[in-house]
Amino acid sequence: MIQIRNLIHDYLRRDEEGNVEGSHRAIDHVNLDVHPGEFIAILGHNGSGKSTLAKHINALLYPTEGTVVVDGMNTADEQNLWKIRQEAGMVFQNPDNQIIGQVVEEDVGFGPENMGVPTEEIWERVNESLRIVEIEHLRKKSPNRLSGGQKQRVSIAGVIAMHPKCIILDEPTAMLDPSGRKEVIRAARALNKVEDITIILITHYMEEAIYADRVFVMDEGRIAMQGTPREVFSDVDRMKELRLDVPQVTLLADELRRKGLDLPAGILTADELADALGLKEETDVRKQA
Ligand SMILES: Nc1ncnc2c1ncn2[C@@H]1O[C@H](COP(=O)(O)OP(=O)(O)OP(=O)(O)O)[C@@H](O)[C@H]1O
Ligand SMILES: [Mg+2]
Repeated sequence: MIQIRNLIHDYLRRDEEGNVEGSHRAIDHVNLDVHPGEFIAILGHNGSGKSTLAKHINALLYPTEGTVVVDGMNTADEQNLWKIRQEAGMVFQNPDNQIIGQVVEEDVGFGPENMGVPTEEIWERVNESLRIVEIEHLRKKSPNRLSGGQKQRVSIAGVIAMHPKCIILDEPTAMLDPSGRKEVIRAARALNKVEDITIILITHYMEEAIYADRVFVMDEGRIAMQGTPREVFSDVDRMKELRLDVPQVTLLADELRRKGLDLPAGILTADELADALGLKEETDVRKQA
């Protein structure tokens, strides 16, 4: 789905006259392949280059060096621009900047309308998109009146209505409360599992990355770690070096192991920890009693 080869991105610094006075390397030799239907999480502390990388995938930015190919289309080729933007949709942090319609259904239909989709099909797409993110009941509402989680699901529905093969979510939950975060992550997982849409989720919340097929950790424009969530999070020390947390349960399990408890590395959920501690069986026995 996505093939990134030796990507370098330099932001140019200009003086008042517009002359280039320096540059800042935000992406430094990144190689990354994403297969169709994968759920990828990208982690990394502030300024590590996550958003810059994401913007290359739907041709909002172009490589300084190297190539980005999306579904066989090179992003540097201007002819591919609109096709790439339709196939690789993007959802940003702040839902208020992404919603333009006065009514939810109108907002969701805006993308396909802009693409020249026939009216009847627009409505089919709107219905389908609202159903997928479970906001059919909000279709006549004004987006301004919705909660953060609902607004972000409207943004996602707007992207789905363009029938993308891939959706890039750049910290979609950063401005949401815990219940809003859950709503959005559930929607992203449904898109991936049910609709088979490739998902790239950029997040600061480690708990959101445990659902990914693969996790990439960025540091100073490079990919510093990659692997399954279990592989990445089991290296608690390296994650700390990269100024990142691991999921709280993983951290607890790691501390217990360091205190001498016999636990496997890379425990990701409370259920796994309970299993490893033998608590599950006990509870079952108690239930039976
Ligand atoms: N338009 C720009 N012009 C110049 N430098 C930029 C620009 N955008 C980002 N940068 C710099 O490039 C580096 C990478 O920024 P980027 O926004 O990609 O990081 P990020 O990992 O998304 O950070 P955050 O977690 O804060 O969103 C940073 O050092 C940043 O200051
Ligand atoms: Mg960012």
